[in-house]
Amino acid sequence: MQLIHTVSELRARLSNEKSIAFVPTMGNLHEGHIELVRMARERSSCVVVSIFVNPIQFGPNEDFDKYPRTLEADCARLQGMADVVFAPSVDEMYPEQQTLFVEPPPIANELCGAFRPGHFRGVATVVLKLFNLVQPQIAIFGKKDYQQLAIIRQMVIQFNLPIEIVGAETSRAADGLALSSRNQYLSAEERTEAAMMSRTLQVAGKTLASGRSDYAAVEQEAAGVLAKRGWQVEYVAVRNQAGLGIPAAGCRKLVVLAAARLGKTRLIDNLEVCL
Ligand code: PAF
Repeated sequence: MQLIHTVSELRARLSNEKSIAFVPTMGNLHEGHIELVRMARERSSCVVVSIFVNPIQFGPNEDFDKYPRTLEADCARLQGMADVVFAPSVDEMYPEQQTLFVEPPPIANELCGAFRPGHFRGVATVVLKLFNLVQPQIAIFGKKDYQQLAIIRQMVIQFNLPIEIVGAETSRAADGLALSSRNQYLSAEERTEAAMMSRTLQVAGKTLASGRSDYAAVEQEAAGVLAKRGWQVEYVAVRNQAGLGIPAAGCRKLVVLAAARLGKTRLIDNLEVCL
């Protein structure tokens, strides 16, 4: 495994690779990331993992400064799994002030985007830059960031990028909590409570599977359960899987998405429901 920090070194290293599978990350790798890397390994002879905490996707009051940076431990976990780890500095990724951005579609202003203005513009912009640098044939993203995955799929289609986007199932702890680097911000008590988010989504999913189509009521019930337990709920939303729009009558491929704060920690999760 080769650790590379500069664009020129990366380009030189990858210039003769014919089939690259790419896993973009912000580091602090957990089992969920490792599963993405395993999927990449199965699909390609060359696996590239990027580790970059991207400043332009964080809002002014978000956790950019405290986001855990654990490059050494991450590289140790990737030994024998990745061929190249690309860990650029902020100056390497943004050698001049970024004044051109990918303008994501309107859905980027809903759901998480309504609470994190500019977040998906920052994500789409850095992912496009990373795609340009790595030039992968395949890129793998976790479904935990469902809205991110949907926007990247649209970006790839609308910008004609020759990249297959693979969505990986969310890795979970034994109690159902979706794995996330931000889980480590939780106190012991909050960590126990955190499993309620996936349990609440499971209940909402069963309700939908039983045939209910009063989505607003299903959303309110789920949000109410979390709020009563002390969560500050940002949203619970039933959407269609394809574009994350409000489901049309008879839509059979739904996803329930939620974001809520437990203490100071913001957690997100989702559940696909196929009727
Ligand atoms: O999902 C993430 O870790 C980040 O949003 C990504 C895709 C690496 C872009 O910074």
